[in-house]
Amino acid sequence: MQALLEKLIANPLLHAKWLNTLSMMENAGARKISACEDKNNVTLTVLKHAAEEHRHAFYLKKQIAKIDDTLCPNYHLTNLLAPKESKFYLDHLDIAVSRFLRKALRMSNGWDLKFSAYILVTYAIEVRAESLYPQYQAALENAGSNIHVKSIIVEEMGHLAEMRKQINQLWKHQPEVPQKALELESQLFQQWTTAVSREVLTS
Ligand SMILES: [Fe+2]
Ligand SMILES: [Fe+2]
Repeated sequence: MQALLEKLIANPLLHAKWLNTLSMMENAGARKISACEDKNNVTLTVLKHAAEEHRHAFYLKKQIAKIDDTLCPNYHLTNLLAPKESKFYLDHLDIAVSRFLRKALRMSNGWDLKFSAYILVTYAIEVRAESLYPQYQAALENAGSNIHVKSIIVEEMGHLAEMRKQINQLWKHQPEVPQKALELESQLFQQWTTAVSREVLTS
């Protein structure tokens, strides 16, 4: 990951596409949180989480102007790294986690399954964010870049703490359930990293 980050930070177009890709994925995450909101039981925590994920999408997109404000104006496939894997990462994770809940836990389709999948998917993503953003921040500092993602790191730590709390309430006696979500996410992240690397290392 370190070599990959170094190489893409050194290339303005690749770096802009990387920021745009992260922005698109944050935006997809924000939309997912809003889509899973109950119409009446919306808490301050849920609103805060959705608002912060939207802010991450906005903030990452805004950083592109520090490289070149004409690059990556939208989320079209040509402006993303590993477009296929990036666009479907969240949906694929949701499908894999939902399938696990149906098969292994015998849950049937409905609100409970949707909500459980939402908690597990969000948890797995926050665990990933907690490792990826600090690596990216360190690479930015090493390269002497004027871009930084420290404010995102702080908020992601808050999200992860919140998701851990919910995971502990729901699966206190079944730690293998959140563990499985992390495994499913790791497989998808591996595929995503391979696809991004292929693109970065060959350009
Ligand atoms: Fe985020
Ligand atoms: Fe987050």
